[in-house]
Amino acid sequence: MQIKRAGIVGVGFYVPEKVLTNNELEKIVETSDEWIRSRCGISERRIAEKGVGTSELSAKASLKALKNAGVSPEEIDLIIAATTTADMPLPSCACFVQQKIGAVNAVAFDLGAACAGFVYALVTAEQFIKTGAYKTVLVIGADIISSYIDWTDRSTCVLFGDGAGAVILKEASSGGILSSVLGCDGNYTDLLKVCAGGSRSPATSETVKSKGHYLQMTGSEVFKLAVRGMSDAVVKALAKARVDKKEIACFIPHQANQRIIDAVGERLEVPKEKIFVNVQKYGNTSAASCVIALCEALEQGKIKKKDKVVFATFGSGLVWGAVVLEW
Ligand code: UT7
Repeated sequence: MQIKRAGIVGVGFYVPEKVLTNNELEKIVETSDEWIRSRCGISERRIAEKGVGTSELSAKASLKALKNAGVSPEEIDLIIAATTTADMPLPSCACFVQQKIGAVNAVAFDLGAACAGFVYALVTAEQFIKTGAYKTVLVIGADIISSYIDWTDRSTCVLFGDGAGAVILKEASSGGILSSVLGCDGNYTDLLKVCAGGSRSPATSETVKSKGHYLQMTGSEVFKLAVRGMSDAVVKALAKARVDKKEIACFIPHQANQRIIDAVGERLEVPKEKIFVNVQKYGNTSAASCVIALCEALEQGKIKKKDKVVFATFGSGLVWGAVVLEW
């Protein structure tokens, strides 16, 4: 059987309208605009309105991606929604999206790989295209991570924001995904987690009182592992694709912290002008981070036909990954 390559034929993203600035956060917790900007590179982030679910943001991003690709909802065979903040524990976010966008012929499921979700989902979707099992796949990275935020915890509440991005994947006529590397180390499950609300500790008045439903993170450890995990994954993915780092036209790292992005860029010796950064506007949007960045890089003309584009990502698990593609 001939091995096909998968390529992105359309992109779209959506972020909530409500902007939360550092100055507003100064009024909620003991922090400062100066600390947040200098330690994280973030100036503002978007926050979804109460009652809005991740599928709503996802559907808006998906409709844009469909329009951009010139593909109708009926043509979609499969929807993979990478998210850890689905509208509800079940059904999946992907099922809500299927209904919202009218993708009546699509099967749909969620994929949980936290901030690395989009890259994990892209690689998963690629397998279906390569085998010929599905022809048109909608890949979504979306999170309303603010639903896990403890607004009294300054070490996490300044970092995250909400958003969604989507791509349409099809067999590539040229270019497409050249290589990928995914990684996981379950020894680090403790570093970034939401303890309650799952099967081990379902919601009770006790779990609410003890703040078990909020995100907890050992930031400095995650920082170090993120730099190493993303850099190593990119080196391996480039080698697999036989692409030299000098050929990278646009490097799209997970947008968690400007200092992490800088450190990864330095390790890989990718010039600053080739690294796409929008963390200042959105903070860490978890699974949406890389795909929103891809959309904005395209909007800003930073990616042209035949360019080599590299994603690098990292998240709770710990999980990480890199993808090398030719646009
Ligand atoms: O998507 C993947 C998951 N997440 C990440 O990639 C995040 C990875 N980690 C990070 O980005 C960084 O570790 C943080 C931004 C979370 C923290 O930066 P840091 O340089 O590692 O700071 P730290 O945690 O070592 O804290 C330094 C100081 C502490 O004060 P003391 O103990 O030195 O007096 C913190 O209490 O900064 C303090 N601090 C703050 N001060 C003002 C922590 N958060 C804040 C804040 N405002 N918001």
